[in-house]
Amino acid sequence: MKLENSPPRNLVLIGFMGSGKTHIGRELHQHLGFPWIDMDQEIEKRTGLSIPTIFAEQGEPAFRELETKLLNELLQDGSEQHIISTGGGVVTHEANRQILRKLGFVVWLKAPPEVILERTSRNRNRPLLNTPDPARKIQELLAVREPLYASTAHLRIDTSELSAAELLGGILESARYHFACHP
Ligand code: S3P
Repeated sequence: MKLENSPPRNLVLIGFMGSGKTHIGRELHQHLGFPWIDMDQEIEKRTGLSIPTIFAEQGEPAFRELETKLLNELLQDGSEQHIISTGGGVVTHEANRQILRKLGFVVWLKAPPEVILERTSRNRNRPLLNTPDPARKIQELLAVREPLYASTAHLRIDTSELSAAELLGGILESARYHFACHP
């Protein structure tokens, strides 16, 4: 239950494509039983379009607007004790970064570029990496985004070295501490 005037107690997962936001989001949902919102899936459900189709037909700026609209709704609805998995580019907008921190405890799931390349090469549903040289594109995007993830997150955790159980344990312990300090 949400206390009057207390900040929302959601768990928000940010990080680059292939860093494990969907996987860990689902694990947290199963472990805690809290509702889970995967922003990409929610946007696809609401528009009836796949992410590659939105990028191809409406362009990236339109997709970013859909992300901002959804985040604003989550904040205004007073969503509480939700697990929120975001898309990798959500931090590129200043307004989004502010909303993410207002929504709750923000965890940056991090992975090295070679792990990202390996994980993202398994499917072709990420329009930004459909280029002749995805490794280079990953480097370029990481250079821009890493400072943004860092400034938005309360916790940074590397997903390439730890098991899902270890990641869950670390996230939950840190989140409890955070919420105890920000009741
Ligand atoms: C994007 C990441 C994707 C999806 C879209 C754009 C990005 O989500 O939102 O393809 O800009 O990094 P995932 O991080 O879940 O792959």
